[in-house]
Amino acid sequence: MNDLNTQKAELLGAIAAADADALEAIRVSALGKSGTITALLKTLGGMSPDERQEKAPAIQGLRSAVADAIAERKAALEAAALDVKLASETLDMTLPVGTSLQGSIHPVSQVMDELAEIFADLGFAVATGPEIEDDWHNFTALNIPETHPARAMHDTFYFPDQMARDGKKMLLRTHTSPVQIRTMTSQEPPIRIIAPGRVYRSDSDATHTPMFHQIEGLVIDRGIHLGHLRWTLETFLKAFFERDDIVLRLRPSYFPFTEPSVEVDVGYSIEKGRRVIGGSDGWMEVLGSGMVHPKVIAACGLDPEVWQGFAFGTGVDRLAMLKYGMDDLRAFFDGDLRWLRHYGFRALDVPTLSGGVGA
Ligand code: PHE
Repeated sequence: MNDLNTQKAELLGAIAAADADALEAIRVSALGKSGTITALLKTLGGMSPDERQEKAPAIQGLRSAVADAIAERKAALEAAALDVKLASETLDMTLPVGTSLQGSIHPVSQVMDELAEIFADLGFAVATGPEIEDDWHNFTALNIPETHPARAMHDTFYFPDQMARDGKKMLLRTHTSPVQIRTMTSQEPPIRIIAPGRVYRSDSDATHTPMFHQIEGLVIDRGIHLGHLRWTLETFLKAFFERDDIVLRLRPSYFPFTEPSVEVDVGYSIEKGRRVIGGSDGWMEVLGSGMVHPKVIAACGLDPEVWQGFAFGTGVDRLAMLKYGMDDLRAFFDGDLRWLRHYGFRALDVPTLSGGVGA
């Protein structure tokens, strides 16, 4: 018995002083397959029941005392190592801005901030939704049933069937339109939101990247009509491009989730050989939009006889390219510092309407 006590005292002393390697060596020599305590435990099998009853508690007590001490020491060593690592990785938050160390705001972030500012002035809140969506929110509720050809057109990245949630197939959202559904099912109308964010399609060339950014707009209220849509888009585009001579052309189009659907072109003119937004020498498609389909409103549990609305969606990257004159979308996501320094915005240049967004 005394033997065990001495052994315990020695082991606990060694554990308390051990570093990580020594601790592991102690664990192996005491509790490992051919460790000393393991050997003691094995002797229990050969004892008479009386003897075992007498000796087992001490041996098992020794085993758990040593195991606990090792675990405790291990946790303490790990915590100390983490403290050292954290101490060596601190950032000096007092460094002045404006030095060469300063990062820049990516044009996509800048444009999203500009859009939030413009739409906040019109009474729109910013809404978000998950990038990993289920096919009900991304398609079905938007009046795109399983057999609809639009599903194939979206070049969707699907997750394997085993990753289905509640029987719903999971995917990377192909547009920001599922945020319409998430908002209508979680908020009481009237609704006025924009939803900027990342979307994904299996597509890649000079004007397409597998990940890109869209912004969705949604208004749900009583008595909403196409005139409200037109006014909102015109007001937004004038504020965004900071010109009054913005001319819109609405063309009939088709989206399963809007009826009627309208594609919006914005007029451009040629100034010194360059295309600039404004005037009407030519037309560029900038937005998809329309009146929210009654089936979509009903799928969200609202009565389409009472509530109507409009929705629109457009590419944020494309808006940035048009406004700031960049021509290759792929460069947006290369992380090339020279590109970021050239096209990036200063961190303190927060867009405001009074300052001229993007000024
Ligand atoms: N979700 C559509 C797209 O990705 C755009 C859109 C949004 C069209 C809202 C109409 C209404 O192309």
